[in-house]
Amino acid sequence: MTPPAGAGLAVSRLTFLRGRRAVIDDVGFNLAPGTLTALVGRNGAGKTTLFSLLSTLLCPHAGTIQLAGVDAVRDPGLARRHLGVVFQSAALEPRLSVEDNLRFMASCRGMRGSEANAALPGILEELDIAAVARARIDTLSGGERRRVELARALVGRPPILLLDEPTQGLDPMARQAFWTRMRAQVAQGHTVLCATHHVEEARDADRVLLLDRGRLRASSSWRSLTQGLRGVIELVTVDNDKSLAWLVQAGWRVERGEGCLRVAAVDVAAQLPALLCAMPVAVVRAEAHPPGLEAVLDAFGAEAEGTACA
Ligand SMILES: Nc1ncnc2c1ncn2[C@@H]1O[C@H](COP(=O)(O)OP(=O)(O)OP(=O)(O)O)[C@@H](O)[C@H]1O
Ligand SMILES: [Mg+2]
Repeated sequence: MTPPAGAGLAVSRLTFLRGRRAVIDDVGFNLAPGTLTALVGRNGAGKTTLFSLLSTLLCPHAGTIQLAGVDAVRDPGLARRHLGVVFQSAALEPRLSVEDNLRFMASCRGMRGSEANAALPGILEELDIAAVARARIDTLSGGERRRVELARALVGRPPILLLDEPTQGLDPMARQAFWTRMRAQVAQGHTVLCATHHVEEARDADRVLLLDRGRLRASSSWRSLTQGLRGVIELVTVDNDKSLAWLVQAGWRVERGEGCLRVAAVDVAAQLPALLCAMPVAVVRAEAHPPGLEAVLDAFGAEAEGTACA
């Protein structure tokens, strides 16, 4: 299904309380069709709660959610038809077969039997689960089950996909295949929001939303989130003591690692060649590690509460 015009996701002033605590606190963002957005945050930041609100499993205490132009708070049934969701925890019926789980989802999406018959083989093939189509869910491996969850979200090609740590448990090849497929969906105009703890998934997204204790702290590209943050150049040289003394003298921020030296610097990829040229000691190994998710979360976690910059 090609997404209709205005098929994005818009959230405004969204708030959800558990007791008196705001687990989602005045959150707002707009996701345009044809974009892939990563949602990052520490454990307990509120990512899954936000997904539960967006997928209409929870009702917000305040704020609005528009899914493909439909008011999801007023008309959750209609809004759900525009959504494919991969939940963080398993949502499959374990005693049904793979095919029956997918058929059930097709009927929830209002697809006729003949439409489901036409659509399912392609999806099974795409997720590389055609061979287990008749198997019961409770006989599959963890990775196979996850792929069925992904297949389930794609049934009916809904214009908006909400993915809560979708690649958890997938092997590297399956993960790569999954992202290739998601990129193709996005290129066709689908809107994808994906909660992740994987730095490469955040880095490759068009935009990153950073949630911290229920508040949206940042909404921008990975590039701008990491601008000015230090990465690490890991060095092994023929004489680490001598190298350390020289690096300190030359003004680099350096500390000892296990059998190596760790040099902290902004824009490590650009700094590495200059550093290697200047080093007076032979270098055996040098690796540049740009700032990761932890560094970004640390940088924003250090901000005072209430400084949302969405
Ligand atoms: N069913 C529940 N009852 C009470 N509190 C809950 C419930 N589910 C989540 N919480 C609390 O709400 C807050 C947000 O949890 P949530 O699951 O949304 O975090 P998360 O960002 O998805 O974390 P993770 O990265 O671990 O998946 C946490 O403080 C959590 O303890
Ligand atoms: Mg979660």
